[in-house]
Parts: sequence; C-alpha cells; structure tokens
Amino acid sequence: MFTLNQEINTQDKPIFYKDLANSLHLLLGEERDSIANMANMASLLYFSLPTINWSGFYLFDGKELVLGPFHGKPACVRIQMGKGVCGTSALNKEILLINNVHEFPGHIACDADSKSEIVIPLIKGEKIIGVLDIDSPIYSRFDNDDKVGLLYLTEILLSATDFT
Ligand code: SME
Repeated sequence: MFTLNQEINTQDKPIFYKDLANSLHLLLGEERDSIANMANMASLLYFSLPTINWSGFYLFDGKELVLGPFHGKPACVRIQMGKGVCGTSALNKEILLINNVHEFPGHIACDADSKSEIVIPLIKGEKIIGVLDIDSPIYSRFDNDDKVGLLYLTEILLSATDFT
C-alpha cells in the first residue's frame, strides 16, 4: 500500500516539490506501464497539491489530444492541437501558466469552478506525447515554483514510463 505523505510541507514550494518527487519515485517503482503511471501520478497530484480541482493527462494520438488518466470531474474528451490551453501548449511545446482562464482566448471550460491553470507538455526526444493539465478554483494559483516543480515531476514520469 502506498501512503500519501501527510506531513508534506506546502509552505516552502521547492521543498514541497522535492518531497513530492520522492513520493512519485516510490509510487512508480519499477512499473513502466503508461496508463498505470499516469493514473497514479494524477491521483498523487490531486491529493497532494492544495487548492486544485483537476489534475490529469491528455495524450496526443497523432492527430489531436485525447483525455487520459485524471482525477476530478469528468472532462471533455478531445482537444484539437492549437485549441484551448492544452492544445496550444501541445502544439507549441511550451508550458502555459494561466492566471485567469477567462482571459485566455479559446479556453475550454470543462469544470466551471476552474479559474487558473497550468499545462506542462510531455516531450520525449522531439516528440509530443501529451500534456499534464492542472486546474485550480482560485485565480493565480500557480507560480514559477509550480512550473519548475511540475516540470521536474513530468521528467520523472517520462523517464520511468514506456510510452508507445
Ligand atoms: N481547460 C483546458 C481543457 C481541459 S480541462 O481544464 C480538464 C483547455 O483549455 O485546454
């Protein structure tokens, strides 16, 4: 059984993400299955990050993004490349940190509670695998520490997992 670290320090974000990285390493262990690892990572993030309402993955199927493992309310299934925050992040292969989703042109509202969002593209070599998407019910929830910390967590996932 994996026990979530309840003592995790959420005040000092670099330390918080270091602890979370250790938890992710332990959680993934020797497993290399992509669905299992993304599902566990989505759950770990959902239950560890304060003030978020959705965490999960969209995967590139060669044409568009398709909903992958997540935690939170049911979400839209397909997102065209270049559309919404996720499709824009995937197309441009760039991290998007959106303080107010209502000001992002073309934002796709899956959960009406979402007010800010961060999307990290998953890139292996030059190839886009998909994105990690995290939503918050408060404005400006994510900062540069989250960006650095979450990027590191996605790097752990990418090196620990076989994506076909
Ligand atoms: N808001 C995203 C869509 C996915 S949901 O937030 C889960 C977007 O604009 O791409």
